[in-house]
Parts: sequence; C-alpha cells; structure tokens
Amino acid sequence: SGFDKGDHSHFMQKEIAEQPEAVRRTLLGRLDHRFNTAHLGGIELAAREMLDIRRVKILGCGSAYYAGTLGAHLIETLARIPAHAEPASEFRYRNPVIEQDTLYIAVSQSGETFDTLAAIQEVKRKGGRVLGVINAVGSTIARECGRGVYLHAGPEVAVVSTKTWTSTAVAFALLALQLGRVRDLSAAQGARLLAALSALPDQIASIVTREAEVGALSAILAKADHAYFIGRSAGYAVAMEGALKLKEVSYLHAEAYPASELKHGPLALISPETPTLAIVPDDDLLAKNLSTIAEVRTRHGPVLAVTHEGVRLDGVEAAFAVPKSEPELDPILLNIPLQLLAYQVARGLGRDIDQPRNLAKSVTVE
Ligand code: G6P
Repeated sequence: SGFDKGDHSHFMQKEIAEQPEAVRRTLLGRLDHRFNTAHLGGIELAAREMLDIRRVKILGCGSAYYAGTLGAHLIETLARIPAHAEPASEFRYRNPVIEQDTLYIAVSQSGETFDTLAAIQEVKRKGGRVLGVINAVGSTIARECGRGVYLHAGPEVAVVSTKTWTSTAVAFALLALQLGRVRDLSAAQGARLLAALSALPDQIASIVTREAEVGALSAILAKADHAYFIGRSAGYAVAMEGALKLKEVSYLHAEAYPASELKHGPLALISPETPTLAIVPDDDLLAKNLSTIAEVRTRHGPVLAVTHEGVRLDGVEAAFAVPKSEPELDPILLNIPLQLLAYQVARGLGRDIDQPRNLAKSVTVE
C-alpha cells in the first residue's frame, strides 16, 4: 500500500490514534447551534418525510453491523422511532418484507461489500428507499444508495475497523439528533447533545494515548482461550464490537453476550480460566451491571472492566476508566480501550495485525 505508517508500528495503531481527527471531520459543518440540531445535507429527507418514518432498519456486515446496532439504539432513544440493525449478509435470504414507511440504512466503510450491496438491491427492487452511511466516497454502495452520510474518516488501511466504527457511531448520533429534533426531542436536549458531540474529539484524544494502561487487562486475556464480553443495552453493542476486534486480530475466542442473558446459559462456562470483560458505564444500569459482575465473581470468574472514573468495582482484576460523556454517547468512548486492548493482545501474541489470516478488508464476493 502507498500509505505511510509514520511513527506507528501498525496501521491499526495509527488509525486508533487518528480518531480525534476522524471524528472532527465527521462532525465538521454538521452541528447546527442555531436550532440545536444536526444538519446532514446528503440525506435528502424533508422534515415531512422524517416525520412519516415509522421504522428504521440498518444493514451492514462485521463492524459496520455492530456500529449499526449502536446506531439503531441512538435513533430509537433520541428520535423515538423503532430501529433495528441486522447483518446485511443474512437479509436477502429470508425474503424480507419491505415497507414504504421504513427508512433503510446501509453501513459500509469500503462501500464495496458484496453482501451489503445485495441487501440494498433487495430493498430497492421491492420499492424501498435506502440511505448510505459510508466512508469511501463514490464507492459502489454510495452510488447505489444515491444519498446518505459520508464519514470523512480518511482512508482505513488495517483490515480491522477502528476509526470507521467510531465515525459511524458519531454519524448515527448526528442522524438521530436531526430526526429527533424534527420529532419529540426538545431544543434543550439538542443543546445537551451538541455540547457532548463537540467534546468527543478531545475526550478520545485523552484515551488513545493511554495504550500502556490496558496492560493489566491484556495480560489476563492473552493467557485465556475463551473470554466473554458483556454489556447491557447500548453497552452490548460495545461488547459485540470489542469481542469481534479481539477475535479478528488476536485469534482468541471472545463471545459477546447481553449481560442480563448470562444467567440463561453461559454462566455454566464461567470458571477461573474464562475471563469476563464487562462494559460498566456510570449510568442508570450501573447497579444491574454490578450485580452481574458479582454473579461472575461467585463462580470464580476473573472480571475485567471498561468503566467510568469514580465507579467503585469490587473484586475486579483490572479496569480501564474513560471520561464521561452524555449517556447516549458514552458507548463511543467505552469502545476505544477495547481497540487498544485487542491491539495489545495481538501484538503480544505476534499476530499479523494489519492483515489477519483469512480476512480481507472488503469482501467483494458472496
Ligand atoms: C470485512 C472486514 C471487516 C469489516 C466488514 C465490513 O469482513 O474483515 O472488518 O467490518 O468487511 O466492511 P465494510 O467495508 O462494508 O464496512
């Protein structure tokens, strides 16, 4: 590749470090402080059309799907529109019902993923409308959608997604804010989110420089064969992306599970050999997350946590605290240490970090 790693050992490390700048570009010119909303010019939806949306369906593969899962959560929370993400790779196989009042959103870094393109074609063939949330300008999927949001995150060279996941989540926050302000979200709520969005680049900058601090967590994961990543609500989307990142670059088996579901099965696998990484934001689900950690501790499972400053965690082996944002945007910051963690575990194990075995940056075949 003609791209330069600069001072970094790997493109993955470089792209993690670039996130403050990537997010700044995703936000650029899109914050409307006059009306306390976001403005995404390329979505081409009139206020009337935004009001008429009854459902949102988000389609993507891999990290794009997981970013879409967080996106669905943001849209449902802020715009109060039922929203759901689904792997684009499965969509066309179940003869999906396409609805006129559903907004379909395709998510892709490369804009070339075959499964995502095929899902869009299925929607369009049945008369549905699709917006793109895309990084690569002028890509096949961007052109097929014809309208949407460009991330402007810059080129991502490492096979695994880091800055694109973060920029996609930010783009969904902007879309959710814009849809929300046309519907039920107040100006005061809009102002609260605008302030939090503006603060994100500096907050991310304060996390990406702390690579050394994931050492205690990576030492425990590196010697395990299996790990659980758990989170509740939007924290589960973070857990899914964190587990995927670890699998992709370290080849260790990590399984994401909704924290509340642990007791319905996987608790049988918890032992001193199986660490659990918990996403523990300081929000209204904190007590629930702490009681899940206690259940794991009772089964002698080692617990690692990504949390907020000031949260008291008992019996946890190692933790990494990130700065607090607004609750809706916390998942964006909580995910960053998981990127550092996957990178460090993979590096310790001597993996081919920028080109993991069996994987391709964009899968352009079925
Ligand atoms: C491949 C990569 C994944 C990526 C997925 C979607 O499977 O290995 O890391 O998340 O494609 O790529 P896209 O370009 O559509 O976002």
